Amino acid sequence: MTRLMNINITQLKDIQTPCYLYDMKLLADTLAAIQGETAGHDNYHVHYAVKANANPAILQAIAAAGFGADCVSGGEIEAALRAGFKAEDIAFAGVGKADWEIQLALEQGIGMFNVESTEELEVINELATAMNKTARVSFRINPNVGAHTHAHITTGKAENKFGIDMEDMVMVIRKTETMPLITFTGLHFHIGSQLLVMDDFVALCSRVNELQDILDSEGIRVPNINVGGGLGIDYDEPDAHPIPNFRAYFDTFKQGLRLREGQQLHFELGRAMVGQMGSLLTRVLYVKHGKQKQFVIVDAGFTDLIRPALYGAHHKIENCTATTKDTVVYDVVGPICESSDVFAKDLELPETHRGDLLVLRSAGAYGETMASCYNCRSLPNVKTI
Ligand code: LLP
Repeated sequence: MTRLMNINITQLKDIQTPCYLYDMKLLADTLAAIQGETAGHDNYHVHYAVKANANPAILQAIAAAGFGADCVSGGEIEAALRAGFKAEDIAFAGVGKADWEIQLALEQGIGMFNVESTEELEVINELATAMNKTARVSFRINPNVGAHTHAHITTGKAENKFGIDMEDMVMVIRKTETMPLITFTGLHFHIGSQLLVMDDFVALCSRVNELQDILDSEGIRVPNINVGGGLGIDYDEPDAHPIPNFRAYFDTFKQGLRLREGQQLHFELGRAMVGQMGSLLTRVLYVKHGKQKQFVIVDAGFTDLIRPALYGAHHKIENCTATTKDTVVYDVVGPICESSDVFAKDLELPETHRGDLLVLRSAGAYGETMASCYNCRSLPNVKTI
């Protein structure tokens, strides 16, 4: 009988599947690891990227541990505030902020807007003026740094829709000087997600340094540098690496960035904080013996976990209730009426039967938050342990 995280799988035999299982102990250990690596650096601020997992229990645990939040919608700001994040520790990003979302953020007095265009700056200025509220504004720069990850989750290249060109930066910052209720607070960068090669972050540091030199020569002071998120996790061997290598990550910035006196450094980590603490449990409905293939048909589909269908992502799959070591090669598929509803192809699993419990590992980030009700399906269940 397999042990999953800290529990014996027999405790889960009556669980309603599909179900996300969250290991709160691993979350606490992961948060403690981050705190350990940033201890002694009072100018480091880690904001949790709420988009990775907005489950209230998870948000509350992260808020209670003293982290800030990185939000990309009014809904996320509301969820973060409900969970106990302080408004001043919230950064609000996104290329398409609606007026009501900007107004909510101004009303609540969030820490900073990460602004992605001059057009957006002008709208924030108008709304702030109408409400007589001050908006603290950081500009997101498109650093044109290539990240070695899936094209759908690369954001820092010139062809992506994100951020403002480096060349326009001085002009945009100068513009804020004519706007009494806009305070320029800093620069924001984010190059992509699921990055395991530190060289990408080294390249980002060089871009930040270059830009800082230009701004220095213009006499522009930058109180905050925000380097975004992106640190990846080990999807292949979650048990070998349940906690990402935060030391290598923070050291890269410690060594690579030339911070100015008093400058604050912000991070926006999502996946690295919650990815490994979540698993998706699913039951086998049928083992179908096709002409060329054997299919394990499970009750979870891409409505519960879309990453394999959308990004070709790999999640380790285990059969928790297998009774034999004899293996068979299967395609593991869901019930959705689309041929992309496949979790794994040609996967060797112990001989599997109807009723077996399978687990898709490393599903804590971008799993539950990306679930949908396509095919009139219910959203997945959730259990924290
Ligand atoms: N900051 C910004 C501005 C972002 O756009 C993102 C993620 C993050 C921080 C957090 O990145 P992380 O530390 O989690 O890599 N759904 C995709 C990932 C999309 C990431 C979008 N932006 C997936 O399942 O792989």
